[in-house]
Amino acid sequence: MCRISLVILFIYSLLAQYSAGFSPVILIPGDGGSQLEAKLNRSASTHYICEKTSNGYFNIWLNLELLVPFVIDCWVDNTKLVYDNKTRTTSNPEGVDIRVPGWGTPEAVEWISPTHQKAGSYFSTIADALVKMGYQRNVSIRGAPYDFRKAPNENVEFFVKLKTLAEETYKMNNNTPVTIIGHSMGGAMAQHFLRLQTQAWKDQYIRRLIGISTPWGGAVKALKVFAIGDDLGALMLRESTMRAQQVTCPSLAWLLPSRALWKPTEVLVTTDKYNYTLNDLQRLFLDMNLPAAWEMRKDVERFQDDFAAPGVELHCVYGTDIPTVEQLSYKPGTWLDGYPTLVKGDGDGTVNLRSLSACLHWKKRRNRTTLNKGKVIKALPLSKAEHLQILHDQRVIDYITTVMKN
Ligand SMILES: *[C@@H]1O[C@H](CO)[C@@H](O)[C@H](O)[C@H]1NC(C)=O
Ligand SMILES: *[C@@H]1O[C@H](CO)[C@@H](O)[C@H](O)[C@H]1NC(C)=O
Ligand SMILES: *[C@@H]1O[C@H](CO)[C@@H](O)[C@H](O)[C@H]1NC(C)=O
Ligand SMILES: *[C@@H]1O[C@H](CO)[C@@H](O)[C@H](O)[C@H]1NC(C)=O
Ligand SMILES: *[C@@H]1O[C@H](CO)[C@@H](O)[C@H](O)[C@H]1NC(C)=O
Repeated sequence: MCRISLVILFIYSLLAQYSAGFSPVILIPGDGGSQLEAKLNRSASTHYICEKTSNGYFNIWLNLELLVPFVIDCWVDNTKLVYDNKTRTTSNPEGVDIRVPGWGTPEAVEWISPTHQKAGSYFSTIADALVKMGYQRNVSIRGAPYDFRKAPNENVEFFVKLKTLAEETYKMNNNTPVTIIGHSMGGAMAQHFLRLQTQAWKDQYIRRLIGISTPWGGAVKALKVFAIGDDLGALMLRESTMRAQQVTCPSLAWLLPSRALWKPTEVLVTTDKYNYTLNDLQRLFLDMNLPAAWEMRKDVERFQDDFAAPGVELHCVYGTDIPTVEQLSYKPGTWLDGYPTLVKGDGDGTVNLRSLSACLHWKKRRNRTTLNKGKVIKALPLSKAEHLQILHDQRVIDYITTVMKN
């Protein structure tokens, strides 16, 4: 067994020579950026139209056939998580098993939909550009998908596997340190991963981190999703339907605005009865009738408080000049049941500018902290580069290919 993998490793390192010594890449997707497969064996279902059992595993995320009226209710019921306030962890509903396919392969993060529907294109444009430079899929381009519904506390195994993947990729490419490219929450996952490693390990195995559209300190958008849900933009989905699933995800609680970037005096939600700031989150979640959201927030807050540079060369690439929700404002008399006006500020349409550009704080402090001493930190703000569309933006492709040539 061991011998076979050594032979495979040897073949891969021969192949890798064609990648011309460029730093190999590991792609880490954001919220919603990994494929998910489900297997059902349920004793009860909410709807008579919902299947209770499935013949093995099937693709459940960004399967456009499942995201249509009525059928969407089955989808919500199968993909929502159940929070247990004793173990402080979540689990799938009874009779549902969900797994993340394609560990290590770029395929699983280039395309969210396995059938390559255009709506499901994710890292594919970036991977294609790298291949043009001489990169090879599975050798010098790898993928690190994960269950994006969960926060770092419930993705412990992911971080262990990622370390192995980085070491393996380094070896497969003639001991060349790896570049991690993370999009959105994937950048935050990468940052957390790097914080877990020793500086010696990072110096040996990691060439750099490129964070695209990364919320380094959360986003008010997460609060908006807890309040009214999100329709994922283009798809014909109802926010309120999606909300039933979204509010059960600990990752959403992790993406709430961070104390490192929002002052306790800033009003995030305004009503005629009360103005809520970050200090009032417990009250807000109880008033919204989402007690589990408050519990999840407490579980993940320590990851937000750990607001420090990752200790490797860092590039933050992000969009600006797109109206981005900054505050929720409820009309007098509607309390939290109404539909709030979304007060907008600068950002990429999803993440507030202050969070996207937070890497600049680390740059300023660079020489004062031993952690990041001498490490390059570069920010590339791009006007009108929308949170997701940025993955197909020519300016980003040009930047990445230029950086990778160094
Ligand atoms: C489905 O669940 C039932 C009852 O929980 C169990 O008896 C049965 O073996 C399960 N079927 C499969 C295919 O796992
Ligand atoms: C834990 O959950 C149970 C059941 O939902 C609930 O009755 C209880 O109040 C919760 N406890 C805490 C501390 O939130
Ligand atoms: C990469 O590896 C996966 C899993 O072994 C395989 O299914 C896929 O076809 C490979 N892709 C390429 C481009 O070699
Ligand atoms: C909330 O803040 C607004 C201004 O930001 C103020 O006009 C209003 O009186 C405040 N409401 C309450 C209930 O404190
Ligand atoms: C910070 O340190 C780097 C490398 O050690 C040095 O080149 C740079 O001039 C320093 N910057 C400031 C503002 O002191």
